[in-house]
Amino acid sequence: MTKQVVVLGGDGIGPEIMAEAVKVLNALALDIQLTEKLIGGAAIDAQAHPLPQDTLEAAQAADAILLGAVGGPKWDNNPMELRPEKGLLGIRKQLGLFANLRPAILYPQLASASSLKPEIVAGLDILIVRELTGGIYFGQPRGIRTNEQGEREGFNTYVYSESEIRRIGRAAFEAAQKRNKRLCSIDKSNVLEVTVLWKEVITELAKEYPEVELSHMLVDNAAMQLVRNPKQFDVLVTGNMFGDILSDEAAMLTGSIGMLPSASLNENNQGMYEPCHGSAPDIAGQGIANPLATILSAAMMLRYSLGDEASAQRIEAAVSKVLDQGLRTADIYNPQEAGTQKVGTAAMGDAVVAA
Ligand code: NAI
Ligand code: MG
Repeated sequence: MTKQVVVLGGDGIGPEIMAEAVKVLNALALDIQLTEKLIGGAAIDAQAHPLPQDTLEAAQAADAILLGAVGGPKWDNNPMELRPEKGLLGIRKQLGLFANLRPAILYPQLASASSLKPEIVAGLDILIVRELTGGIYFGQPRGIRTNEQGEREGFNTYVYSESEIRRIGRAAFEAAQKRNKRLCSIDKSNVLEVTVLWKEVITELAKEYPEVELSHMLVDNAAMQLVRNPKQFDVLVTGNMFGDILSDEAAMLTGSIGMLPSASLNENNQGMYEPCHGSAPDIAGQGIANPLATILSAAMMLRYSLGDEASAQRIEAAVSKVLDQGLRTADIYNPQEAGTQKVGTAAMGDAVVAA
């Protein structure tokens, strides 16, 4: 059956990088119907809403959503309900996208982009699975109040139910099974009861995935190990807050924000796929943005939502090949590196199609 994909270019460099991802998908000639819709600032301008009804309905009916980025200075002073980010948050919430998959991959060709020594990071390929809709970011009660001593205090509630832990655990085990079958669960079980339960539930779940080797690590140690020896990891799974921090740390190990894709999935493997970077208003309209994070997001979409691992691997191999050929957009260009050539957004997309 024809797969339905909603394409949301968004703002800033969003439409430019999306055009290249669409080029690559079209070149594969798969049984996919792409439908373009508006979101974010573009939707505010045209339809007076960051997530118009027709966009939401198309997203709900689709197998997957491919997103560029939203936001920009033009809308920064808008009231909260007319902010571009509301479009993204709205889709996440309406579709129940609780599993955020963030790979940190450092192509060996780009090892000099990292601030760490090449031997520590070259060839790094890890995946952080972050719970996205629960934990301390959403727990009730929360607020700032005056206590009995007349002093102000801020408070949040850290809570995860067994079913919330089990469903993110399942997503992580499934992802580990598609990769190298090693999963490390991150907790703070020496201090926080929530993560004592977390560790227990993940350990129980491991019985259903005998092929996957499960380990556990405390979050402070994980933060250290990620910079000491990141290649010891394959898939990591953790809650919302630890995942927010560790996934940004891991992303920066690669030094190239223009290369990093992401996925947010629900229980039906319906998902939204987007680059980790934003709309880069500083370089929008210049045709110099790196489209590879968005192209790699399309590969993740094929893998996780459209059940087409072979096409996902073809795209990833093509990206690796254009890097071998020495093609670099400005963000990953290093004039000291011999045999490389600076190219624009469209030339990079064309090269991936050719590869
Ligand atoms: P940003 O990621 O847009 O840009 C940070 C820096 O990285 C800029 O110098 C930019 O030129 C560069 N950069 C980003 N993507 C690039 C690419 N593909 N190729 C080459 N260079 C690239 O983050 P920033 O500046 O904090 O935010 C800009 C806007 O994007 C804001 O309105 C923000 O709210 C929005 N944003 C949207 C996100 C999303 O749609 N998921 C995520 C993060 C920010
Ligand atoms: Mg963050």
